[in-house]
Amino acid sequence: MKFFLDTASVAEIREGAALGILDGVTTNPSLVAKEKRDFRKILEEICEICEGPVSAEVTEVTCEGMLREGRSLAKIAGNIVVKIPLIKEGIKACRILRGEGIKVNVTLCFSPNQALLAAKAGASYISPFIGRLDDISQEGMQVIQDIRQIYDNYNFPTEILVASIRHPMHVVEAAKIGADVATMPFKVFDQMLAHPLTDAGLKKFLDDWKSTQGK
Ligand code: G3P
Repeated sequence: MKFFLDTASVAEIREGAALGILDGVTTNPSLVAKEKRDFRKILEEICEICEGPVSAEVTEVTCEGMLREGRSLAKIAGNIVVKIPLIKEGIKACRILRGEGIKVNVTLCFSPNQALLAAKAGASYISPFIGRLDDISQEGMQVIQDIRQIYDNYNFPTEILVASIRHPMHVVEAAKIGADVATMPFKVFDQMLAHPLTDAGLKKFLDDWKSTQGK
């Protein structure tokens, strides 16, 4: 499973990349707005830190507008993936951008049917938002399960990029299903690593070791 950070914070990406296991980054307009800096500048910096795919989202809603913006974003760096919303105009734009060799992450996916359409349009990644489905009492993980089965039935190469991850159990469940990518806030990355028994065990080992020194 690949791990992406879902953030536009250069500091967080730098810290995540230092672990050596960061596979990519996803951003969205809300995450970028938090940074209060120039979007393109942020993307340039992120692409320098992370060699893997970096998703940058369009803000136009017509096919023409998305194509214009997508082509321009793709010029920032070779690892930019253009993020396109799952609407009719977005499906059209996805097909055209893919024809030009630009990678596309189709975002704001909430159903298996939407994911099927994105795969047909040649999306490199599909981003189902599981946390937002859980928020409205729908089982987000069931959508991941259904998409996995559908993509496997037809050998679609589109990667399932689980998004809107809120806690470490989302990552465990997505990994059990066989999702290709989990994109998560930095906090979840940290939470995956932490275990109180690891901390307590390490403290005991070090205390016992210290007690043998100087004897
Ligand atoms: O980047 C898209 C997605 O991960 C957003 O997550 O927490 O705003 O629902 P969230």
